[in-house]
Amino acid sequence: MANSLPLTNVQQRDINSVLHPYTPLHKLAETGPLVMGHGKGVYLFDTQGKEYIEGMSGLWCAGLGYGDEEMIEAANEQMRTLPYYHLFGGKGMEPAIELAEKLKEIAPVPISKVFYTSSGSEANDTQVKLAWYYNNVLGRPKKKKIISRVKAYHGVTVMAASLTGLPGNHKGWDLPVSGVLHTDCPHFYRFGQEGESEAEFVARLAKSLIDMIEREGPETIAAFIAEPVMGAGGVIVPPSGYFAAIEPILREHDILIIADEVINGFGRTGNWWGSQTVGMTPTTISAAKQLTAAYAPLGAVLVPEDLYQAYVDHSAQIGTFGHGFTYGGHPVGCALGIKAIEIYQRRNIVEYVRGLTPTFEARLNKIKDHPLVGEVRSCGLVGAVELVADKTTKRSFDPAHGVGSNLVKFLEGHGAILRALGDTIAFCPPMIITEDELNELFNRFELALADTEAYVSKNGLRAQ
Ligand SMILES: Cc1ncc(COP(=O)(O)O)c(C=O)c1O
Repeated sequence: MANSLPLTNVQQRDINSVLHPYTPLHKLAETGPLVMGHGKGVYLFDTQGKEYIEGMSGLWCAGLGYGDEEMIEAANEQMRTLPYYHLFGGKGMEPAIELAEKLKEIAPVPISKVFYTSSGSEANDTQVKLAWYYNNVLGRPKKKKIISRVKAYHGVTVMAASLTGLPGNHKGWDLPVSGVLHTDCPHFYRFGQEGESEAEFVARLAKSLIDMIEREGPETIAAFIAEPVMGAGGVIVPPSGYFAAIEPILREHDILIIADEVINGFGRTGNWWGSQTVGMTPTTISAAKQLTAAYAPLGAVLVPEDLYQAYVDHSAQIGTFGHGFTYGGHPVGCALGIKAIEIYQRRNIVEYVRGLTPTFEARLNKIKDHPLVGEVRSCGLVGAVELVADKTTKRSFDPAHGVGSNLVKFLEGHGAILRALGDTIAFCPPMIITEDELNELFNRFELALADTEAYVSKNGLRAQ
């Protein structure tokens, strides 16, 4: 959908100078970027002063919204005290220690140490390296493959993008690298078979995982990685009993279980951790995003004692632990992580999210019968609306028509931001959103849905 207005100066400067991630580059000069100016609470304002309700917490991360004075003050104070230091060569600093202590306290499983990164991708890359390293230390050099899932999203570095199970992250990028396997996606609406119950679907996925492990050889598989609730693959909530069915299979074959809590962590699903919501018991955890409420980049890998001891043993043999990032454990990021967790606890964010969940679900359910809506799904305060060309057959629109991306463009016109994952529209509002603001977000969404229906009818895209 072309922008009918001439580009502003700032839009033109953007197009002339910025290479945009996850953007149809061939269309950007025509549509123009949406350049944000400032934010306050759950509202964003573009450089023209137009207001938008933030429905996506940026990229599933700005859980406290924008302009939180306590967060700003925490950053300022740390900037003044010690704006940078690192953890290499046995150095330390107070914010990294305090945040690690806090993460150990709130982790859903026993954790011994915290390894810091700057992003979720780096955390997942680190997880893979640690799984390889662990098996080398244990004298199992063949046990190296990683099982991920179709539609998973684990980031974009070479290994994280390989773990990601989305074609757009592989096609043209020479990925996935070898040694990464993708098992089934637990999305019943899309992958459940005719006449199959949810329980039968779960049993089939468990059987398929067993087949994969036997085919590859359990002695070749190091780890399994999963988002408790899948995010960028379309907000996919696993059927109940899914993790209970697959975890014993993984444990039986001594396969580490990595929970990618990068979106789920810190209250988003109505518990501190998504693992708790979906009944997952991970060996290790990746965290990022709401760890600092996105006021600074920071990621973390949470490791248990037995894995840590293996690294210690190896360090004794070879002289060091050869892994680390310049900005891993950045003191400003850690100070913001400490402050964010303090705010989540003081404001009872988990309870607050649970309190908003019925309204969130009710507003999603209200549009469930709309002719363009195939499925609505949610967990806590993250959800999605999947648009379809044919409700009965679940047939999707031809991706070339960009129905989802048109909807979010219409929505921008009505003053709200959501994200189109293909034709699935994701919702992930800041966790501090009020009930009125949440209702207003949905009111604006319904206007955009009506515009999209008109667009679909006008262009003859609906099922005949
Ligand atoms: C579940 C999950 N893991 C990892 C990542 C990658 O994080 P980053 O973009 O900080 O590298 C993301 C990003 O959206 C994510 O959603």
